[in-house]
Amino acid sequence: MRSLKNILVTGGAGFIGSNFIRYTFNRTDFDGGVVNMDCLTYAGNPENLADIESEHSGTRYFFEHGNITDRDAVRSVMKRYEIDTVVHFAAESHVDRSIEGPKNFISTNIIGTFTLLEAVREIWKEREDVLFHHISTDEVYGSLGDTGKFCEHTPYDPRSPYSASKASSDHLVMAYYHTYGVPVTISNCSNNYGPYQFPEKLIPLIILNIKEEKALPVYGDGRNVRDWLHVDDHNSAVWMIINKGVEGETYNIGGENEWENIRLVRVICEKAAAIMGRDRDCFKELITFVKDRPGHDLRYAIDCSKIKQELGWVQEYDFDTGLDRTIEWYMENGAWIDRVRSGEYRAWIEKNYISR
Ligand code: NAD
Ligand code: TYD
Repeated sequence: MRSLKNILVTGGAGFIGSNFIRYTFNRTDFDGGVVNMDCLTYAGNPENLADIESEHSGTRYFFEHGNITDRDAVRSVMKRYEIDTVVHFAAESHVDRSIEGPKNFISTNIIGTFTLLEAVREIWKEREDVLFHHISTDEVYGSLGDTGKFCEHTPYDPRSPYSASKASSDHLVMAYYHTYGVPVTISNCSNNYGPYQFPEKLIPLIILNIKEEKALPVYGDGRNVRDWLHVDDHNSAVWMIINKGVEGETYNIGGENEWENIRLVRVICEKAAAIMGRDRDCFKELITFVKDRPGHDLRYAIDCSKIKQELGWVQEYDFDTGLDRTIEWYMENGAWIDRVRSGEYRAWIEKNYISR
C-alpha cells in the first residue's frame, strides 16, 4: 500500500472528478489533503463540491483555478502543495463536441497531459513515493462488433477526435514511464452515470428532457451498445489503483452491464414515469430517432478481470438501483440543473471563482 498525503486532482469540478473528491473525503482511512486544479470550462462547476468546500476548505481541501496547459501554474501547484499523487481527470470529454470542434480536445487532452507529465518528471526527480494516475476511456480501443470485449492488450483504434486525443495522452503517459521512469498507472473505463453529470451526455439529457416533456433524441437506429458503470464504482477502482496498483500497468474498469441505447432510453422512460406517478409508457412517445453521429462506435464492452483478480475490485451498485437513484437525483436537483445550463451560473463562477 502506498501512503498518500497530498493528492492533486485535475478536473475535480467536473462530473467524475467531483465525485472522486467526495469519495476521498468519505473514506475513513485517508486524512491527507486534496488540491483540485480546474479551469472551469462549461463542464466544471465548483458548486458540485459546496459541501466539501464548506467543511474542509483551507485545511484539507484547496481549489486552484488554473489550466493544465499552463506550465507555470501546474509547477507552482505541484511544488506549493508538495503533491505526491496526481489523479488526472481534466479533459474535454464529450464526443459530439469533439466532432464539432476538435481543437480544445487537442489542447487540453494532449498538451495538458504533456504539461503535467513534464512537471512531474522535473519535480519528482528525487522522489520514489509518488504516482501519476491517468484517467482514460475504453473508447481508445475503437468499436466492437456483436461479440468480444476490450482487454488491456487490445490494440488502440480510436475513431473520434475525442478518443484519438485520449489515446494520444495514454501513449504519452506510458512513454514517460518507459523513457524517463515517471511512476504512472492508467485506467480505461466504460461509460459512467450518476449525480453531477453535465446534461449533454445520454443519461442526464434523457432524464431532463423527460422532466420537461421534450423530444428524446436517439441517434441512428438506437442499436449502439454502451457498458454503464456507476461513478462511485469507477472511483473505488481508481482509489484501489492509486493505493496498490503496479507502476507501468493499465487497468480496464467496466460495469459488465451492456445496454442498447434504445433499450436504455425506454427503461429510463418507465422508471421516470414510476417515480413521477405517471402512466408507465407515457414518456416513450417522446422518443425521436435523429441523424446518427458521424463515425458512431457500435459497441463497447470491457473485460475487467485484471483489476478484479489483481487488486480485488468489485462493483457495488446494481444498475437497477443506481439508475433509480440517479433519476431521483436529477428530479430533485432542479436548481443545480438550471444553473449549469444558464448564463447565471457562469456569472456566479466569474464572481466567486475567477475574479476573486
Ligand atoms: P467533465 O467534462 O464532466 O469534466 C471535465 C473537467 O475538466 C471539468 O471540470 C473542466 O472544467 C475541467 N477541465 C477541462 N479542461 C481543462 C483544462 N484545460 N485545465 C483544467 N481543467 C480543465 O468530464 P468527466 O465526464 O468527469 O470525465 C473525467 C475524465 O474521465 C476524462 O478524462 C474522461 O476522458 C474520463 N472518462 C469519462 C467517462 C464518462 O463516462 N464520463 C468514462 C471514461 C473515462
Ligand atoms: P454519450 O453519453 O455522449 O457517451 P459516449 O458517446 O462517450 O459513449 O452517448 C452514449 C450513447 O448514446 C452513444 O452511443 C451516443 C448515444 N446518444 C444518443 O443516442 N442521443 C443523445 O442525445 C446522446 C447525447 C447520445
